[in-house]
Amino acid sequence: MNSFNSYLSTELTNIRSKNRFRSVKLPLGIDLSSNDYLCLSQSREIKNALKEGIEIYGAGSGASRLIRGHRDIFEKTEKKFANWVGSENSLFLANGFAANVGLIDAIADSRTLIFTDRLNHASILDGIRISGAVKKYFHHRDMTHLRELLQKSDPKARKIIVSETVFSMDGDIAFVKALISLKKEFDACLILDEAHALGVFGNEGGGIALAANLSKEEVSEIDFRVYTGGKSLGLEGAFIACSNLSKDYLINTMRTFIFSTAPIPAVLFALSVSIDLVKKMDLERSRILENANLLRSGFKKLGYETLFSESQIIPVVLFEEERALHFAQFLQEKGFDIRAIRPPTVKESRLRISINSNITRELIQKVLECLPNEPNAIA
Ligand SMILES: Cc1ncc(COP(=O)(O)O)c(C=O)c1O
Repeated sequence: MNSFNSYLSTELTNIRSKNRFRSVKLPLGIDLSSNDYLCLSQSREIKNALKEGIEIYGAGSGASRLIRGHRDIFEKTEKKFANWVGSENSLFLANGFAANVGLIDAIADSRTLIFTDRLNHASILDGIRISGAVKKYFHHRDMTHLRELLQKSDPKARKIIVSETVFSMDGDIAFVKALISLKKEFDACLILDEAHALGVFGNEGGGIALAANLSKEEVSEIDFRVYTGGKSLGLEGAFIACSNLSKDYLINTMRTFIFSTAPIPAVLFALSVSIDLVKKMDLERSRILENANLLRSGFKKLGYETLFSESQIIPVVLFEEERALHFAQFLQEKGFDIRAIRPPTVKESRLRISINSNITRELIQKVLECLPNEPNAIA
């Protein structure tokens, strides 16, 4: 074995010895783990739109949007998305990872201070790293700590505050009003990642910024909102909702936009249909949140730790990797597709359960009935 392969093999042995080895598995049973919250990935209308879009626009785009990859459907859907979430404009990227990394890299440099929630997504952290900005972690959802850090920082430094709204692993929700007021007080830029809020929260499913009792003026204070197309919208991609000025700036500076082939135009054509569907799904939204409450309180009653989740995402914290793996396997054998999430994705190993619109009350009861009465029973 050459020295590079021997390095890989030693690293993998280390990962295995900590029970952190991961491999991909096909969907296993009833979906209690995906982010397809409104089950739109299987929608007949969206599948048909995707096919129709391919007929109209062809398969690939052929080049980056600044060369020959641009099509009218990009701008049309960007405008439509912006209208939905109440922003001046939006910019579409191939996925949420490219959106966060590219956005942060484009607006920050080594003189910028970035205040980031301790539990923000890997794409946000990678954006900060690539930009070379100075990273300041604030304790998870702790607005007092954020204020202290802002107060202590150089008043002349350019500042960015960044937070998810519905946190992807804990399922709790950021204090958006407080974030906006701090950003105003300290003249910072504010980025909110709405990946897991879109479709489930807010007026017409437009996300937390439209749910948090904010005035129009407050919403317009949020400089960038990142929304993904691969979760509630059932497809893929990401929209960065922002002002016209910011959009022009990103088109001119954002490396993941400039140096990457434009996404498949048919995806935008289908996303446009998906937006219309999501807006009308109030019944599904309330069912998802009711059923999530039911499952969460069931787990809590039995003594399981579900943190401060108040969304469709329910963490069941089991701490050790092995326990989380065994527990997930136990539930998978009962027919539920529930997965273990382990370090380095999260600090404490857990099950991450997510509720989608196909999940019924009866199904929640079935999950609860098969749980051991005591959290330590499965070791
Ligand atoms: C909060 C958050 N932001 C961004 C992303 C990345 O989005 P995408 O899957 O479209 O790359 C994810 C994960 O999928 C996420 O959970």
